[in-house]
Amino acid sequence: MSNPGAIHLATNLGGKLKREEVIDTIEKYEKYHANYGGDEKERKENYADMVNKYYDLVTSFYEYGWGESFHFASRLKGESLKEGMKRHEHFIALQLCLKPGQKVLDVGCGIGGPLREIAQFSMTSITGLNINEYQITRGKLLDRKAGVDKTCDYVKADFMNMPFPDNSFDAAYAIDATCHAPDVLNFTFNLVVVFSGYQKPPFDIDDVSLKVGCYKEIHRVLKPGQCFAAYEWCMTDSFDPNNREHQSIKSEIELGNGLPDIRTTTQCLEAVKQAGFELMVLECVGLAPKGSRRVQTLLEKSAKGLLDGGRKGIFTADYFFVVRKPRLDSSSYEAAGN
Ligand SMILES: C[S@@+](CC[C@H](N)C(=O)[O-])C[C@H]1O[C@@H](n2cnc3c(N)ncnc32)[C@H](O)[C@@H]1O
Repeated sequence: MSNPGAIHLATNLGGKLKREEVIDTIEKYEKYHANYGGDEKERKENYADMVNKYYDLVTSFYEYGWGESFHFASRLKGESLKEGMKRHEHFIALQLCLKPGQKVLDVGCGIGGPLREIAQFSMTSITGLNINEYQITRGKLLDRKAGVDKTCDYVKADFMNMPFPDNSFDAAYAIDATCHAPDVLNFTFNLVVVFSGYQKPPFDIDDVSLKVGCYKEIHRVLKPGQCFAAYEWCMTDSFDPNNREHQSIKSEIELGNGLPDIRTTTQCLEAVKQAGFELMVLECVGLAPKGSRRVQTLLEKSAKGLLDGGRKGIFTADYFFVVRKPRLDSSSYEAAGN
């Protein structure tokens, strides 16, 4: 258990929420979900608001119960929870063959538990990308305490639309995070462009739609020939969308975890390929998970959904893959000025 998490939990439920905002926030959050009359379209359209409400509410609970890393991990016989989590993180570093000095992207970094562990283990410089401001504030503080603040940093942004130039990183990973994406391939992003002053805009539109998706964004910001590794949350191919019990388990997992939808393993694999990646490693491990009162109830429901999903074999939080952005062929290499 992390002491700072316990203090935050005792004194300040949720992230940057004021005490009086908690009830209103959880009510608005719940309304996005099927159990409270919400639908998938609305969750997908409002994914950023939904995810931020969720993490503002639960981050202190997570930190109290889980520590600094917010992901599942298998446990070997005799291994503590913390050791299992670290092994999970080291596994990613080893699968990505990280080398000292490399520039790495952590997509959806939480409060930076994996970032600090992997940066120290592999002597790399990691940028944590996160849409939630409160988590970034916690991450920066914990980085200073761990002494990795000179080599690692955080960027508050949406992984559907990353503020990095093309070909920026030597490696990227996502742990239990891209499951929050409304769409990993094609997502219509509405930018409202506001111009101030007398200068006329260079174009005649006030609403620009960009097609982006988080896998495509990761592909774009990785250098050619470099790899992306992920632990994804997926419905397995045993999931039957017409089975009411399966649907109800899926809805409970979405509600308890701030998810707009859960893709199947097949959809996930197809999406990484369509984003332009080559598949290097693929593994699917079964799930054996063990998280003011309403937030607690929300998390308890989530645990039930996760367990039921794992037991029925229709859900996994451990769909692991490593994919590579193809190397440039010699003509594109020369065209790129090399
Ligand atoms: C379950 S937590 C996992 C955090 C971290 N990977 C770890 O293992 O500790 C999911 C993370 O994804 C982030 N996230 C969700 N949607 C996001 C988005 N659209 N853009 C950036 N980060 C996002 C959340 O804020 C949260 O930090």
